[in-house]
Amino acid sequence: MPPVIAIDGPSASGKGTIAEAVAQRLGFHYLDSGALYRIVGLVGRECGANLDNDLEISNISLNLKIKFDSGRVWIDGRDVSVQIRGEIAGAAASRVAALPGVRRALMTLQHSFRQPPGLVADGRDMGSVVFPDARLKIYLTATPEERARRRYKQLMEKDSGASMAALLQDIRDRDLRDSTRAAAPLLKCADAVEIDTTGMPVEDVVARVLHLYQKLQKTQ
Ligand code: C5P
Repeated sequence: MPPVIAIDGPSASGKGTIAEAVAQRLGFHYLDSGALYRIVGLVGRECGANLDNDLEISNISLNLKIKFDSGRVWIDGRDVSVQIRGEIAGAAASRVAALPGVRRALMTLQHSFRQPPGLVADGRDMGSVVFPDARLKIYLTATPEERARRRYKQLMEKDSGASMAALLQDIRDRDLRDSTRAAAPLLKCADAVEIDTTGMPVEDVVARVLHLYQKLQKTQ
């Protein structure tokens, strides 16, 4: 089986940026599992479904035609790359992600990303549930304040009128929901290496992950 590097952690901990950079450096494929939950949340809202109804949302998840290409995301031929990044899709994602049937429905799709020469996957349960045999498991954290600052900066670049206080509250709410849900809660696996990225430049975090992976390769 091609090797997997699993990168888990709370919202806005920098998982996507780090995972994408590590995948690029190693020439590996990249899975942004959060994008799948965001897509399901978005489509569920658009068709007026009850976002807490497992059966209804699982059926939507099973029937989606999702395409990832060059950093963009399409559902049924429609480019939703920008829409799924918004706070509305994020909040909907966090709701549908609590449904066990939806998590099961997305499993096969996530496994299909495991292709040679390897995969870097980011999310909440990559190391614990989806790829428990991952060669390297990383748990990225940062303080809620630092994560709210990062998200604020990102949103300002897009000219959005977000407030720091609202973003910090949203991050705290999402942390609580993600870590207390019954289905695949956000947790640090016993065999994951924790990296606190507060105040750390992106390049240093990427170098640390690559170093850990190369060290493991030498011992295999
Ligand atoms: O990582 P991102 O913020 O894009 O994820 C959106 C939401 O999807 C998270 O708040 C979380 O509830 C959910 N998620 C999950 N499991 C994953 C990835 C994301 O439950 N593997």
